Amino acid sequence: MGSQEESLSHRGLESMAEFAQMAALMKVFGNIYNKEKNPDGIISLGVAENSLMHKELAAYYENKIQVSPFSLTYGEGPGGSSILRNALASLYNGKFSPTFEVKPEHIFVGSGVSGVLDLLCHSIADEGEAILIGRPIYTGFSHDLFGRSKLKLVPVSLKGVDPMSVEAVKFYEKELQIQKNHGVKVRGMILCNPHNPLGKCYTPEAIKAYASFCNDHNIHFISDEIYALSIYSTPSNTTAAPFTSIFAVPGLLDLIQPHLVHVLYGMSKDFCANGLRMGCLISPWNKPLIPAVFSVGVFQWPSSLADIAWRTILTDTTFLDDFIEKNQKKLGEHYQILVNWFKKMDIPYVHGSNAGFFIWVDLTRYLEKIKLPEGDDGKVPGGKTNLPWAPAGAQKRDAILWDKMLNGGVYVGTSEMFFGEDHGWYRFSFSTNTEELELGLSRMEKVLKGVENDGVVAGLDGLKLEEGAKN
Ligand SMILES: Cc1ncc(COP(=O)(O)O)c(C=O)c1O
Repeated sequence: MGSQEESLSHRGLESMAEFAQMAALMKVFGNIYNKEKNPDGIISLGVAENSLMHKELAAYYENKIQVSPFSLTYGEGPGGSSILRNALASLYNGKFSPTFEVKPEHIFVGSGVSGVLDLLCHSIADEGEAILIGRPIYTGFSHDLFGRSKLKLVPVSLKGVDPMSVEAVKFYEKELQIQKNHGVKVRGMILCNPHNPLGKCYTPEAIKAYASFCNDHNIHFISDEIYALSIYSTPSNTTAAPFTSIFAVPGLLDLIQPHLVHVLYGMSKDFCANGLRMGCLISPWNKPLIPAVFSVGVFQWPSSLADIAWRTILTDTTFLDDFIEKNQKKLGEHYQILVNWFKKMDIPYVHGSNAGFFIWVDLTRYLEKIKLPEGDDGKVPGGKTNLPWAPAGAQKRDAILWDKMLNGGVYVGTSEMFFGEDHGWYRFSFSTNTEELELGLSRMEKVLKGVENDGVVAGLDGLKLEEGAKN
């Protein structure tokens, strides 16, 4: 008789281990707040979901989604219907000023950007090869790169240099050399523009500098533009760099071999529809790539209902423009609610965000209030990041603070989840409805004031969710 583990492939066992973090989060999501059904549940200010337009979108879809007999068939095959790919090409041509015409045949549609990035990784790199990304990093990239294709995410430490600056590129250069010296082949880099978790956009100058870097080393330049239309302005923030798609950067194609340039875009963020699982790859110049992606893309064949949902809104330009405008206005208002709270609490945060649904926040002063038990080495077993430069105990204190917040009924993303340079930083999302946002912040205030005033002498309390997920 063999063990259950022995019944799995080596790949399967690696995936099982990788699932641990997601499993912990799924417990949080299994006990999520609902005013009527689960008022003691956790308020999520941690997930990048924008519910500010959910009511409008749900009402719109109630009248608009029509299931035809054709949508019950395999249709045109994987990769998205031609109507949807035409509509996406029009979106890019109409709203992002590309320096060339984006065509439907440049586009492959799959189940969400995570899924499409997995397909891209599978097609451009072999197991063990690396992709560079500057810290802090959207947490899901590590899974998207490694989950199936087993690529290595190499976080690039920027040592306090502005990640949006041209200067940051030299750290990529350095990291690439380190990987080379260790015999690891770097295949590409991802620029998250607009940036998650910093909520900022890259200037054309910075994008050009990254393009030259990629070209010099013959590596892929993947531009994740999933927040491209989730841009807002606030009275306190009028000078932030606007969003520029990599396709709109003048002179870019003189700097990089075009076949190395790819864009990722999706429905989850700008269309407030994470649950519909739609995303696309736009790769205009790499001829062999699209069939390679199609081949594995059979496993990510989007549902025709989701295809209809995306193309319906994209082709209804009056509704679309109104939707984008209202969404951006609401994002600006909610950004301000969160910033006002930081000011009231005297909490430092990264200023000047103008994109996405979140703010990167410095809670390090609360870590100092947490005393570790005698003899505790301050490390968290299975911790995602090992930061050799972190002060002793910071990782454990960070985990304890996060635990306190969860037990206080509110979830936010930790620095460790986002490969931050330092412990004690958190990503707060502001795109939940106003009542929930305010309740979440009042719960958070109670937790942080308790930590500040009374201190904490403890180990991990243990997630109350361990007792069993509700809802
Ligand atoms: C930068 C970025 N890329 C990709 C994704 C994944 O998007 P999707 O829901 O389309 O898989 C997210 C989701 O949070 C994200 O923030």
